[in-house]
Amino acid sequence: MSLEEGGTPLVGAPFLSERTGCDVYLKVEGANPTGSFKDRGMTVAVSAALEEGAKAVVCASTGNTAASAAAYAARAGLRGVVIVPEGKIATGKLAQALMHGARVIALRGNFDQALELVRELAKRHPIALVNSVNDYRIEGQKTGAFEVCEELGEAPDVLCIPVGNAGNVTAWWRGFQEDGVRPRLHGYQAAGAAPLVEGAPVEQPETVASAIRIGNPARWEDAMSAFTGSRGEVRAVTDEEILEAYSLLGSREGVFCEPASAASVAGLLRYGAEGRVVCVLTGHGLKDPQTAMNRAASVIPCEPDIEQVETAVMGGG
Ligand code: F0G
Repeated sequence: MSLEEGGTPLVGAPFLSERTGCDVYLKVEGANPTGSFKDRGMTVAVSAALEEGAKAVVCASTGNTAASAAAYAARAGLRGVVIVPEGKIATGKLAQALMHGARVIALRGNFDQALELVRELAKRHPIALVNSVNDYRIEGQKTGAFEVCEELGEAPDVLCIPVGNAGNVTAWWRGFQEDGVRPRLHGYQAAGAAPLVEGAPVEQPETVASAIRIGNPARWEDAMSAFTGSRGEVRAVTDEEILEAYSLLGSREGVFCEPASAASVAGLLRYGAEGRVVCVLTGHGLKDPQTAMNRAASVIPCEPDIEQVETAVMGGG
């Protein structure tokens, strides 16, 4: 099952390079078929589910896994069922899951509770669980590391990556290890949802970056060994820092990512790094139009009259 995922752009970031004194690149994972890195793992997980004779795939999700699972399930002719925290997922992701024909369940609870429930469900029924606790997901997602090393001709010095359920950082580390390289992995969590930084689960995680609103990551141990093994770090960034990086990426680098993705750049800006740095922009900005509209300048209304158009175009001054 493939939608031709992967092979995403690695673009230089002149503004960020100048600002940080590093050689910064952006790995634009929003260019995947459903607009996030999840597709790299979902192609493998859904192919395996099909081979194993599953009739349905299920996941808990903050939105992107749901959109991806729904698309690949549709393609495979499998039933897709996704459980998301009610009112806490971005509009675009919800539209995707529904358009791909998944059954979408809005849980009156958070992601961590949803994950616990689907794990129990998958024990009781012949349904394939396609969250990143499924090792096929990790095997697919590790290809991001291969691509970056191939394109740069060597490993970067530092990889900056947002961390939620901690599957992606686990995957990138596995990819680098298989390539025999050891860049520092710098993981960033939102300050209101930073269990790995605090060293304990967070009961009620909160952040504007809804994709990483997670209080008890499933890949906790794997992520911590990635940070230790790579001589990296896991740090927190505030919502304000995330939104600032989000705006800056759009207005200065011409790259529109979703808020959670901007945590990688927020972390780089706050904590710094050295050498050649790759920031993983995990999902497309179009996923979350609401946060963009809340944040951006307003549109300028105008009558179809040349004087008025002139004033509007020239900025009224
Ligand atoms: N960035 C985005 C845009 C995400 O959607 C996620 C996770 C992450 C970063 C963090 O990756 O969980 O592997 O550490 N989204 C999951 C979901 C939880 O359900 O879509 P992670």
